Amino acid sequence: MAAIELKDITKEYRSDEIITSALRNVNLKIGSGEFAAIMGASGSGKTTLLNIIGCMDIPTSGTYLLDNEDLGGAKEKHLSSIRGKKISFVFQHFALIDDYTVFENVEIPLMKQPLSKAERKKKVLSALKLAGISNLAKKKPSNISGGQKQRAAIARAIVCQAEIILADEPTGALDSKTGNEIMRVFSELNNMGKTIILITHDKNVASYAKRLITIQDGSILSDEAI
Ligand SMILES: Nc1ncnc2c1ncn2[C@@H]1O[C@H](COP(=O)(O)OP(=O)(O)OP(=O)(O)O)[C@@H](O)[C@H]1O
Ligand SMILES: [Mg+2]
Repeated sequence: MAAIELKDITKEYRSDEIITSALRNVNLKIGSGEFAAIMGASGSGKTTLLNIIGCMDIPTSGTYLLDNEDLGGAKEKHLSSIRGKKISFVFQHFALIDDYTVFENVEIPLMKQPLSKAERKKKVLSALKLAGISNLAKKKPSNISGGQKQRAAIARAIVCQAEIILADEPTGALDSKTGNEIMRVFSELNNMGKTIILITHDKNVASYAKRLITIQDGSILSDEAI
């Protein structure tokens, strides 16, 4: 079953007189449990595509089906609940809150749910364990390494048990050794059944995925199993 199905998706950005076509008639199906990498030159539309898949942005035209549900015309409240429950993001620069401990950062997505403090704690500790940073729960982001920050961001992404994890250049701010460690975490999550879609400029990073989608000028140039 295709968890994600884009049909003839276009995205135009308009400012004053200028119209930028960021996506042009994109057709794409990504099934549950897939691990896909998206590559392409800067400005080719990768982030725009990921943001539409992640319900952070809406297309100008076309149809987006998520688990067979047509999200055309969906209200922001509904899209926001999808972002919490079905889809989570991991960003290049981690997007952690500096004043919070690692534990508190990972706990944030759970605050929307009707859970007791003890239930939240159990979920946070389990996410930290999966991300390999159980020992860092009490530390603040400023006192841990880049790779550890990205592990904390991954823990935050998986704490609500979202099925789909989207990552926009998750290793872009890391050295290659640390980037490889982070990619092994994504591989483990994929082995556990998570659907993973990540953007990268690095062929080595993309090689951890099982499918490579290449974008050029807002269109899919190639799409192959790797
Ligand atoms: N909010 C916006 N307003 C206007 N134009 C935008 C906006 N966001 C993106 N664009 C334009 O849309 C096109 C696609 O941008 P996008 O960010 O998706 O590219 P990208 O492939 O992620 O690039 P990079 O590798 O540099 O992150 C670019 O031409 C960009 O300038
Ligand atoms: Mg981008």
